[in-house]
Amino acid sequence: MSPKRLVDPGPDPAQIEKILGAAGAAPDHGRLNPWRLILIPPERRHLLGAVFAEALIERDGEATEVQIEEARSKAFRGPLLVMVVARLGPELGETHPRERLISAGCAVQNMLLVAHALGFGAGLASGKALYSPQMRRLFSLTEHEEPLCFLSAGTVQTSKSSRPRPLTAGYTSTL
Ligand SMILES: Cc1cc2nc3c(=O)[nH]c(=O)nc-3n(C[C@H](O)[C@H](O)[C@H](O)COP(=O)(O)O)c2cc1C
Repeated sequence: MSPKRLVDPGPDPAQIEKILGAAGAAPDHGRLNPWRLILIPPERRHLLGAVFAEALIERDGEATEVQIEEARSKAFRGPLLVMVVARLGPELGETHPRERLISAGCAVQNMLLVAHALGFGAGLASGKALYSPQMRRLFSLTEHEEPLCFLSAGTVQTSKSSRPRPLTAGYTSTL
């Protein structure tokens, strides 16, 4: 679900705890907890909006005021907004970074599923600003941490018909 379509009311504190708690059920080889979640509460959204705006201005010096405001407004979408960060540093142990990313992906899918099970819409967003130095600074990411995506959840304002899913045969073969 696109964050654009997610509005108030969002999950209450107990529901947020269930959504975030589902992340903790992700497979985690070696119990490293190789990812972390950063909540972005309403009163801090303007800081994220400033990063979206700055990152756009930096990569496109000709961006119009309308485009800059559109970039800024992305920070205000979705009542629940969480950044998912992968922890890829050697200090956690020797598990391969790929396994850590899979663990993070499972955590994300668990949160999406629980949000949907609670009756909310939920979705992911990335975008070029996610990888900007300003974003790393705002979220105090360390050298070995990588931002993976934003997860939003809220009430579905307008839904879109779902896309056709690929056929099993399209992605499965037999050895
Ligand atoms: C890490 C990650 C980041 C994503 N970021 C975006 C995004 O910024 N914008 C977008 O339209 N879809 C993004 N997607 C794709 C959506 O989550 C979703 O899969 C897509 O819109 C199709 O919807 P559906 O899977 O419900 O059919 C992202 C997916 C992943 C896994």
